[in-house]
Amino acid sequence: MTPAVPKFFIQTFGCQMNEHDSFRMSEILKHCGFEATDCPSQADVILINTCSVRRNPQNKVFSLLGQLRRLKKSRPNLIIGVAGCVAQQEGENILRCERAVDMVFGPDHYFRLPEILERVRKGERVVLTNRTDDIYERVDNFIPDNWLEAGHVEGCKAYVVIMKGCNNFCAFCVVPHTRGREVCREPQNILREIKTAVEKGAKEVWLLGQNVNSYRAHGMTFYNLLDEVSQIDGLLRVRFTSSHPKDWDNTLSDLMAERPTICNQLHLPLQSGSNRILDLMNRRHTIEEYLEKIRYLKNRLHDIELSTDIIVGFPTETEEDFEATLRVLEEVRYSQVFSFKYSPRPNTRAAEMPDDIPQKVKEERLQRLIHLQEKINGEQIQSYIGTVQSVLIDGSHLRDSRIKNGRTEGYRPVKIRDAGLKVGDLVNVRITGFENHWLEGVLQ
Ligand code: SAH
Ligand code: SF4
Ligand code: F3S
Repeated sequence: MTPAVPKFFIQTFGCQMNEHDSFRMSEILKHCGFEATDCPSQADVILINTCSVRRNPQNKVFSLLGQLRRLKKSRPNLIIGVAGCVAQQEGENILRCERAVDMVFGPDHYFRLPEILERVRKGERVVLTNRTDDIYERVDNFIPDNWLEAGHVEGCKAYVVIMKGCNNFCAFCVVPHTRGREVCREPQNILREIKTAVEKGAKEVWLLGQNVNSYRAHGMTFYNLLDEVSQIDGLLRVRFTSSHPKDWDNTLSDLMAERPTICNQLHLPLQSGSNRILDLMNRRHTIEEYLEKIRYLKNRLHDIELSTDIIVGFPTETEEDFEATLRVLEEVRYSQVFSFKYSPRPNTRAAEMPDDIPQKVKEERLQRLIHLQEKINGEQIQSYIGTVQSVLIDGSHLRDSRIKNGRTEGYRPVKIRDAGLKVGDLVNVRITGFENHWLEGVLQ
């Protein structure tokens, strides 16, 4: 009888960088002879790729570990690992608090997974959290060359990391502490990975980083990189995230307007509409500068879709500060707003300020903000009816394979009833209606 193939299960929290890292880890595990499973109770290795950006996701990690402890009791050979930003932040503490955990490693160490597993099998409990700053140059090829071939392609979309870490130290944010200083990836490596992905069928590429528009490597800026990527043969769509408003330049808006491949979509985190709060947050721009850049972009690209991140209840936020944020939502009319209640994070500057806005007030502000955004979005969705949108097909409806899913250039989800469409098709769709946040349409 052949022995059963060992299985792994990965649970991912957090941002697209973490999604990307989980993808890479699953490739590594497959390379080591493992098979993926959707069912933790069948897995021989369980990895939790964690996020510590807010208190909530971090709490979820610890409650999940509590459940896994019971699973491990019934299956002592199960290997449990904690990766990602909570791992980087808490290191040894996790081993101390949770006896079921065998390995803890930060985002810079996942390429060493085979070696880590080997050590665990020999009975060691492993912690790897040395800082990125010791490991990398400012420009580095932080993805080993032999992994370029296995780029992160899902369906027709490729996700390509162009930089990692962050130097901005926004007062509320843990990311510079968990991901370390900014390291930009060699431009030639980035371009090679994208071209390989396109050869394998990718139609859309996402350039990923904590602050992509501060990219600078070998004299190449983000503008230069985007310019080159947008001209790669066979690539239909380019998106990128996240951008920082202080580093957003009108020349980037010009490039977006000139290049049909660069999607008319931009995520530009605002955090607050009040200059006093922006200053306390160390965002290093004013609301006037932000709005000026948005107005310029809207002038160049009339159908641009914008999204943003907002924190409510930052220390000392008054009703007036909060209302200033609501006014920006009314002016900009984002298509999507990711809004969060402030929570203090370890080692950050804001954690030294009193967290003085009561939970009840934070919750009430969050609800008001969500309500306003729902109203704005409802009006926007309505205005799509009757228009023709270019849609990239990226999957099928979960329960009815005759319905295909896709995204407009502005990143709105669309359902189309046409069984003949395939993933990767770029089609013109007449919008006939909507359901919740989904547009519905027919082929033009
Ligand atoms: N690099 C990205 C941010 C990643 S964190 C950027 O600059 O856009 C994603 C979002 O989480 C942030 O934009 C912010 O809105 C939110 N966030 C970060 N720290 C937070 C905290 N301590 N409390 C509440 N929300 C927070
Ligand atoms: Fe955090 Fe600010 Fe860096 Fe974004 S730019 S990752 S919010 S420190
Ligand atoms: Fe979370 Fe780390 Fe990303 S803290 S948002 S997983 S960089």
